[in-house]
Amino acid sequence: MEIVKSIEVLDQYLSEARSQGKHIGLVPTMGALHAGHASLVKRSVSENDVTVVSDFVNPTQFNDKRDLQTYPRDLEADCSLLKSLGVDYVFAPSVEEMYPEPDDRQFSYPPVDTVMEGKYRPGHFNGVCQIVSKLFYIVNPDRAYFGEKDYQQIAVIKQMVKDLNLPVEIRPCPIVREEDGLALSSRNALLTPEERNLAVNISRTLFISKQYAKSHSLKETHDLVVNVLNSLEGLEVQYYEIVDGETLQPVEDWHDAASVVGCITVFCGSRPVRLIDNVHYI
Ligand code: PAF
Repeated sequence: MEIVKSIEVLDQYLSEARSQGKHIGLVPTMGALHAGHASLVKRSVSENDVTVVSDFVNPTQFNDKRDLQTYPRDLEADCSLLKSLGVDYVFAPSVEEMYPEPDDRQFSYPPVDTVMEGKYRPGHFNGVCQIVSKLFYIVNPDRAYFGEKDYQQIAVIKQMVKDLNLPVEIRPCPIVREEDGLALSSRNALLTPEERNLAVNISRTLFISKQYAKSHSLKETHDLVVNVLNSLEGLEVQYYEIVDGETLQPVEDWHDAASVVGCITVFCGSRPVRLIDNVHYI
């Protein structure tokens, strides 16, 4: 496994692989890797000849400076995990390498990028599109792998790929959870043990609501989730939206869309740590 910091060097390696007709899989990450990332990497390794994992905390997607500063980083631990998974290249560039000058490109994909995270984290998806499009241009992968915990991110990236006519197939991968149900996230590393115990209520409540939804209206189900979580000291729901799984627009009835997904963001603890999760109702 090679750890590559320069775009030019990565390009040399990948041009050679491409000239040999090899298929390239890309797993974009911001490091602080966990079993969720490992599942994406395993899938890429099994479906491609060459796997590139990018490990880069992208500053342009953080609308909160403190969030960027406290984002967990551990390149050494990441690399030992990636080596054990059979990755070929870890691309870990500096900010200067990725952004030699400010990126003033604007990406706008309403309605999928204006709701939920788009509303509460202005500029976030623009930054995601800036870095992911750069990675796609640099790596030119056949397939790219993203976790469904960031459900909205996948919808935005799919729109971008369509808009820019990029020849890459987006492969969404299921959420990986701790044994008790907590969705794996790099941000979990920021939780104290007490907050970690509290955080499990997010997935627990979503799973309960899936049962509840079978005999209750969409609004009753929505309110159950929000009320249960807000009643627990140390948790505060930022939003819970039950949306059409394709357009991400809010739905009012279970029969309003072919797929219905509940997307939640909760603040946990005093710092607080912002956690997201989602559940498929239909
Ligand atoms: O999902 C993430 O970790 C990031 O948003 C991504 C896709 C690696 C872009 O920085």
